[in-house]
Amino acid sequence: MKNFEFCVTTDILFGAGQESQLPEKLKAYGRKILLTYGGGSIKKTGLYDRLKALLNDFEIFELGGIAPNPKIESVREGAAICKKEGIDMILAVGGGSTIDCSKAIAAAACHDGDAWDLLLDMNNLTRALPVAVVLTIAATGSEMDAVAVISNDETGEKLPFFSPLLLPKVAVLNPENTYTVPPFQTASGAADIMSHVIENYFDREPALVPDAINEGLLRTVIACAPLALEQPSNYEARAQLMWASTLALNGLGSAGKNFAWSCHYIEHELSALYDITHGAGLAVLTPKWMRYILSDDTVDKFCDYAANVWGFRREEDKYALANRGIDATEAFFKSIGLPSTLTEFGIDDAMFETMAEKAVRIGSLSNAYVPLDERDVVRILRMSL
Ligand code: NZQ
Ligand code: ZN
Repeated sequence: MKNFEFCVTTDILFGAGQESQLPEKLKAYGRKILLTYGGGSIKKTGLYDRLKALLNDFEIFELGGIAPNPKIESVREGAAICKKEGIDMILAVGGGSTIDCSKAIAAAACHDGDAWDLLLDMNNLTRALPVAVVLTIAATGSEMDAVAVISNDETGEKLPFFSPLLLPKVAVLNPENTYTVPPFQTASGAADIMSHVIENYFDREPALVPDAINEGLLRTVIACAPLALEQPSNYEARAQLMWASTLALNGLGSAGKNFAWSCHYIEHELSALYDITHGAGLAVLTPKWMRYILSDDTVDKFCDYAANVWGFRREEDKYALANRGIDATEAFFKSIGLPSTLTEFGIDDAMFETMAEKAVRIGSLSNAYVPLDERDVVRILRMSL
């Protein structure tokens, strides 16, 4: 177990009706709020009206229309509003895209240059406005992490940046707000949660506590995602998924480990160029990456995964057991309605070399759990066709 610091200060308000605590919690940060949201789901569900009524003592400004795989233009637009109006804090209502965009706005509002500078060099991030969240989809963990991922269509880049300054101050996690998430997004969110856990789990550092948490989170998602798809308003299923999404990426499952991720950096290249849903891209890549890295060096970890997550009996033939775990992962994603090939997205091999170069460079994949170079990433992408 490596040394680590664990200081995650987000005030989590979990459960039905927890929005009612927002006015009291937000008062501490000022009166002028920038309310941010996506393509309009919060207006259809009535959440927008409920929040506006609840926050009628505050002065509310708005930025809607934040796209999935949020774009730098929205960050610039939000930062301009913050600067012009003297905004005190940002209230992000939505999923990872709205939250990430809001974190970037919070930083850009305190930065004199262009917002993209912050993504290119995190040293430019020195201050940020406070961000609060009302989460509407279980997926990214952005509600309790210090990361934001922003796309730039002009340069074809999708870059992450991180700082404790980006950690949300308050997050309302009301599972009822996820009843209306469409099936494909529910399934993609489940795949994203699983991928965060898998990226943390497959690591060279022996770490029993984080891996006990990781295995439990994976079993939870495997049990609850199908139930939430079958019964979208099943409170318990939605609640377990929501809390799993938050715990998957708040640092608990990576504490003491190397944080040596792989699939996310490859997927970010796919969603940067083809604007696909992040979790669905991960559902394609993850089993292919697993098959690619299975070797004498990794087989024992895969056996733990197959036995402790999927419940397969330990047996003499380690490779048979390891492959059972990988097959189960692939079959599970398919069973919840996710694609298993890039071809299903209409993606061919035209940009594989470019994507591989960027993924290896941006993700430092030479330090991944199994180090990957550009040729490895191209091979994984080809296996995914
Ligand atoms: O935009 P609206 O109209 O709200 O619709 C959204 C969007 O179309 C819809 N939706 C969300 N909640 C809903 C709902 N529809 C009906 N009812 C509701 N309650 O779902 C669609 C997807 O929303 P989005 O916010 O894009 O999803 P997600 O939470 O999966 O976020 C994905 C983004 O987060 C980044 C991804 O790369 C991607 O850009 N990530 C952020 C991370 C982080 N900050 O730590 C880590 C992740 O690995 C990931 O990279
Ligand atoms: Zn993710």
